[in-house]
Amino acid sequence: MNTVLSVLLLHSFFATPTLSCNQSCFCKTYQTLKVRSTLRGQYKNILQEQKGALISNKKQVGFAGNQFNRSPLRSEVYDVGSGKGYTISSIGQFVIIDLPQIYEINTIKFWVYDRDINLRTFDIKVQVQNSQGLIQLIYEDTVATSITKIKFSDTFVKQILFYDNNGSSLNQYLHFVNLQAYFEF
Ligand SMILES: *[C@@H]1O[C@H](CO)[C@@H](O)[C@H](O)[C@H]1NC(C)=O
Ligand SMILES: *[C@@H]1O[C@H](CO)[C@@H](O)[C@H](O)[C@H]1NC(C)=O
Repeated sequence: MNTVLSVLLLHSFFATPTLSCNQSCFCKTYQTLKVRSTLRGQYKNILQEQKGALISNKKQVGFAGNQFNRSPLRSEVYDVGSGKGYTISSIGQFVIIDLPQIYEINTIKFWVYDRDINLRTFDIKVQVQNSQGLIQLIYEDTVATSITKIKFSDTFVKQILFYDNNGSSLNQYLHFVNLQAYFEF
């Protein structure tokens, strides 16, 4: 009975934020966890097109491949090779990802093109725009390869910016195969 009441109250809370949920300790705890989990993207990767993430400057980004393998926000990432499965940015250009809501995250993972005989290294910067609109640099490396996981302090984020700082060991281009961001304990 208590649970049912709490769940009902919870639904009411989201429908009408003014209704309080103070009768039940369980209800309050559940409500807090639920809100936190939503802000943290249910602890899953938030950089997915189905979840509303969007490359907002896609006119400045090249996409090699077809509709099934060219987006770095896809979950199927194994169809990658020469001429397919990655983005193309030149030195001084960004891949900017707008999120559909503000998320609290602390981890970003990027995968750069790694299908050469000799592993290509990339000169990259990664920034996040926080909920106050401030842009913070969270990562820079001149020799990034393959898959890199960036850990940073818990931050409320509305935009993520990947920057081609000085191309790769081969040419001026930055190629992403896949991009992920999430909250990790
Ligand atoms: C719940 O909170 C409201 C306002 O904060 C208060 O008026 C009310 O008495 C509280 N109810 C219970 C059961 O604690
Ligand atoms: C950028 O890369 C080129 C070619 O690898 C190198 O000669 C140059 O020094 C680099 N510039 C900076 C600012 O790192």
